[in-house]
Amino acid sequence: MARVLAVLGVGVVPADTPVLRADDLGVLRGDGVFETMHVRNGEPWLLNEHLDRMARSAALLALPLPSRAELVELAGQACAAWPAETEGALRLVCTRGPEDGGPVTAFATLAPIAPASIAARLDGVAVATATLGVPAEARTEAPWLLGGAKTLSYAVNMASLRWAAQQGVGDVLWVSVDGYALEAPTATLVWLADGVLSTVPAATTGILAGTTAAYLLSQAEELGMRAAERLVRPAELHTADGVWLASSVRGLTEVRSLDGVPLGPSPETTRMQKLLGYV
Ligand SMILES: Cc1ncc(COP(=O)(O)O)c(C=O)c1O
Repeated sequence: MARVLAVLGVGVVPADTPVLRADDLGVLRGDGVFETMHVRNGEPWLLNEHLDRMARSAALLALPLPSRAELVELAGQACAAWPAETEGALRLVCTRGPEDGGPVTAFATLAPIAPASIAARLDGVAVATATLGVPAEARTEAPWLLGGAKTLSYAVNMASLRWAAQQGVGDVLWVSVDGYALEAPTATLVWLADGVLSTVPAATTGILAGTTAAYLLSQAEELGMRAAERLVRPAELHTADGVWLASSVRGLTEVRSLDGVPLGPSPETTRMQKLLGYV
């Protein structure tokens, strides 16, 4: 359970306080947006980038967000109630509100990072590919598919992770019907090949534009690497010099097997995690 709960316009309340009406469209339709940030030293890391993405998500849903200042204040209220020496996961959530109209609902939760996510930073993760059922570029032609929006409709993402557990692996790499690797249900794909640190282009595929991967690639030069965005097929990842899943909560987790093919370990993993501030 979240240890901290803050509600827009109210502030911090006991973490088990009910905050949504039963007819809130966020509950009934998954109609809302959210962001999850890594809290370190008592502050959300990459707050501006997350708020920018939340604004883009809300625009795709035509959802009227609270002002940026209000969202910053809400995040600050939650962080102020959290021990600064402990890392945490801050969620900012905005739902469309009651079905018969009314204001959006906005709240923030702050919770400890799941032990499994922390362990995976050291141990890596076994991954299986699974189809997402769409061609790589389908979502850019169909804005109603909400490519690139971080909406509350994560049932498919969670079902994918349950399927992974049934296969005996820790995560999924979604693949398009035309055979390209896209992203994981809660993380961005990053790989290293011939000195180039790459990720999948969000603009043409409708995957979520990951803030962690974007930061990592912006620092590629520091790592003595070049950065690129391009499409990749899973078979190419089998021979890469390193494959990782990046997200705000996990930081960077190395993919240690893909569809049963052993990968790594990469000597770059710890250096990259340090650069991201997760070690
Ligand atoms: C579908 C999806 N892709 C990628 C990511 C990684 O994004 P970020 O690095 O901004 O956490 C997430 C995590 O929020 C996600 O849910």
